[in-house]
Amino acid sequence: MAMSRRTFFRGTLLATAALAAAATGTACSTSSQTKPLGSDEKARPLRIPPLYEGELDGNVRRFELTAQESEFEIVPGMMTKTWGFNGPYQGPTLYMRRGEEIDMTVHNELPEPTVVHWHGLHLPATADGGPALMFNPGESWSPSWTVDQPAATCWYHPHPHEKSAVHAYRGLAGGIVLDDDDSAFPGLPNDYGVDDIPVIITDANFTEDGQLDEDNGWVGSTVMVNGMTKPRFEATTRRVRLRVLNGATMRFHHLSLGKPFHVVATDQGFLDAPVEVDGVLLSSGERVEIVADLEPGKDLMLRSDGLPDLGGMPDKETAEMFGFTDKFDLLEIAAPAEDAPEVPELADSLVPFEVPDADSVEIEREFRLNGVEINGKTMDMTRVDFTVDHKGPEIWHVTNDNDDMAHNFHIHDARFAVIGVENGELEFTTGWHDTITVPPLATVSLLVQMGYYPDPSLAYMYHCHMLNHEDSGMMGQFVIVEPGQEADLDLPAGPGGH
Ligand code: C2O
Ligand code: CU
Ligand code: CU
Repeated sequence: MAMSRRTFFRGTLLATAALAAAATGTACSTSSQTKPLGSDEKARPLRIPPLYEGELDGNVRRFELTAQESEFEIVPGMMTKTWGFNGPYQGPTLYMRRGEEIDMTVHNELPEPTVVHWHGLHLPATADGGPALMFNPGESWSPSWTVDQPAATCWYHPHPHEKSAVHAYRGLAGGIVLDDDDSAFPGLPNDYGVDDIPVIITDANFTEDGQLDEDNGWVGSTVMVNGMTKPRFEATTRRVRLRVLNGATMRFHHLSLGKPFHVVATDQGFLDAPVEVDGVLLSSGERVEIVADLEPGKDLMLRSDGLPDLGGMPDKETAEMFGFTDKFDLLEIAAPAEDAPEVPELADSLVPFEVPDADSVEIEREFRLNGVEINGKTMDMTRVDFTVDHKGPEIWHVTNDNDDMAHNFHIHDARFAVIGVENGELEFTTGWHDTITVPPLATVSLLVQMGYYPDPSLAYMYHCHMLNHEDSGMMGQFVIVEPGQEADLDLPAGPGGH
């Protein structure tokens, strides 16, 4: 942190140039592979992360996660050193229900301090897993909280100070299925691993000796689903629900299936009704639940087919730097057999989308994204950017001041509705989100509802979820307090401290 702002920013630009080179295959000659690995291989059965339901004791659900070093065959025939939770790479899918108390223990068996954030969950700051809560190798951390939000697909990943990207890149990420009593909709698949399938999209570059390239891997040319290349899912049913998570460090994906499909849920849960689309954009950190009908004899391919209109970038070259023009086959879905039973109609109404009237909201805030700064500042763990001392919603206007840089925006402990997009286009804005694309020069206005757990001593974050923008400082902190109270940060003496 002794780096001057100037060197710091130049470093960022260099990193951008390197990633541009990696993304377009024009790298001058690094040892890193730039052509997708695994794509010539025969498809392998999709790996489904185990569903981990913890241990239920009355109303308390207990989980134990161990972050550990290992190795894994991400690409066939090649062992890669990886990190994982309770396994060699990535982590189990955690299952939780609304109303339950969660009693979580995370053990750190890594060689570095880390912390785990429950992305999309509304919980006390002591459980949120921000950088102030980092803990050392050999130590454990035991947060607890009550699940108090509707069913949704969320995820967990490390959030250590300036190292979230590399910890996630090495494999620390897993899904969370939040369930409730109101979402067993007619015709909606919900048999985990059978017709309700997690699809975690990540990417990497590999060095010649098959290791994750950490110097040149932020827009990886090899794309993985659930930690493997070239997966094939053999459907046994005529309808599947895909819980898609864009777990990439930097990449955005515009997903298609070669035929229209339904979006039933966004980051923070169900839409009021299924929406039929031809494609949907997911920036890094976002989730979407897709329902696709299958016909015997007709296999489908989930593809990333390049961002429409270059994602708002001024020209093709700039779009290429961020991988916005790249196309990938992500997941082959093999059609079910002729005798697969017919499925009932998909419900045409899901969860009512009740957004408070924007005119009744008094507090508005402005966030300007520029380079790796938000409102002219980079992250400082000792600084509180603002304090929220009330329970009601707020309106946040988020502007991307760059015409040639992609950004998105994520808020911890919150959900938001998109109530306006100016100066740019977003194809799909309905539903509750916690992460959203902010196209070049656009302003996206959000009606934000935060979980209200006043605690003056610990902050929540908001940030660009392109993880190396975040690690370069594109993040700020807010503190939630009782009316009239002031923030008083309890700064860590541990590895996250200054
Ligand atoms: Cu998914 Cu602050 O993170
Ligand atoms: Cu988060
Ligand atoms: Cu960004």
